[in-house]
Amino acid sequence: MRAMLFLLALVLSLATSSIALAVSNATCDPSDCSCNRDACLCDPSDCACTGTCNPFDGVFAIMTQPAFDPCTGERTNGCRGCHIGPDASYLYFGDTQEQVESLLRFFDGGAIVSGGWDGSVIATFLRTAFMPFGGIPWNDDQLALLRAWLDSLPQ
Ligand code: HEC
Repeated sequence: MRAMLFLLALVLSLATSSIALAVSNATCDPSDCSCNRDACLCDPSDCACTGTCNPFDGVFAIMTQPAFDPCTGERTNGCRGCHIGPDASYLYFGDTQEQVESLLRFFDGGAIVSGGWDGSVIATFLRTAFMPFGGIPWNDDQLALLRAWLDSLPQ
């Protein structure tokens, strides 16, 4: 009987804590900086603070990972080391988020992003997993972030 009560208490406390978690994820305080970032990484329409949300935030969060994990040496889906950061050896995108977004948008008159999701160099390279070169291809959720960013750019 005592074990049953204990189990019941455990189940109840698990249930209430997951409800509390769901509520805290659903509400979002616009004065909280991390809120802006989360709003971009999930669904921008979820959150009251979308006004300050840059659709490139989530894309950059993936790109800025080191191409080779510094601990394990394994490949990632990032671009740092090849295009981003001081050691970049191919077309240099920049180091900060602002630099990288600006290079991608304006390099060679917009050659990397023009054509958007359907036809741009960047969308084609990532969709076909040509980039990240030799690395882990972007999954559907990550590609959806790329698409949302490309769709947000003026044509
Ligand atoms: C291991 C190194 C490496 C990684 C990691 C890598 N790239 Fe590249 N990238 C290259 C090379 C090499 C080329 C030139 C390919 C060619 O021209 O055939 C290139 C070319 C490109 C180009 C075309 C640039 C131009 O001159 O028009 C784009 C866009 C690009 N990469 C995007 C990315 C993105 C986005 C990532 C990360 C998600 C990434 N790459 C990760 C090596 C890399």
